Amino acid sequence: MSDASLPQPTAQPVSGRTTARTAAVIPAAGRGVRLGPGAPKALRTLGGTPMLIHAVRAMAASRAVSLVVVVAPPEGTAEVRTLLDAHALPDRTEFVVVPGGETRQESVKLGLDALPPGFDIVLVHDAARPLVPVDTVDAVVEAVRDGAPAVVPALPLADTVKQVEPAAAPGEPEPVVATPDRSLLRAVQTPQGFDRDTLVRAHETVTGDVTDDASMIEQLGPAVVTVPGHEEAFKVTRPLDLVLAEAVLARRRLNDGF
Ligand code: C5P
Repeated sequence: MSDASLPQPTAQPVSGRTTARTAAVIPAAGRGVRLGPGAPKALRTLGGTPMLIHAVRAMAASRAVSLVVVVAPPEGTAEVRTLLDAHALPDRTEFVVVPGGETRQESVKLGLDALPPGFDIVLVHDAARPLVPVDTVDAVVEAVRDGAPAVVPALPLADTVKQVEPAAAPGEPEPVVATPDRSLLRAVQTPQGFDRDTLVRAHETVTGDVTDDASMIEQLGPAVVTVPGHEEAFKVTRPLDLVLAEAVLARRRLNDGF
């Protein structure tokens, strides 16, 4: 029989997440056409090392992450496995490669399907964000451990954003229909962190086109929260981003001497 006057047990973090094991899924199966012709984006080099290896190292740099699942271009799984074996990676982390799908969403789902039991926290990190600092990764994991079902690193916007009526043909003027209040907007990055069951449920339920995983959780209901993002976690999308990424790497090498 319970007695409300007796001291109640201290609230525990949700389902023991303080000790939960964390896996990272890296969708890397995109062609990256906006970068111009060449190898799939994830296999392009930065400072002589494939972008994907930078992204894998960024996840494995977090002591919380003990498994990294790389979702590779379907025709390139063997090549990605060979790449992982050829580069120095931490021994305490396991690396698995699975073939990706037609869309980013499909690729993430295939990565989730490959997760063994026992990993209750999942990070989803774009291979196209090779330079995310480990402090950002750790901040995302910590927020999920503290009980948030979905966490995104986010930054305020520098540009004012306009909503437009999209033009019928590229380059034609587009009527502006609204200017959202910039102070309420954030640009979100990856890794995005999730309670595994919540993310799996979202991937089973939400079928519409989305550009990130957190928006699937938003459609499902649970609250998504932000933690501070980092300017070096930018996405390498266009040729100029490659120049910036090379510059960031060069600065790190100067500072860290590695
Ligand atoms: O195209 P976008 O830049 O949004 O891609 C984000 C990430 O999703 C990239 O790392 C890309 O390799 C990955 N992706 C994927 N499978 C696809 C399309 C994109 O893994 N079919």
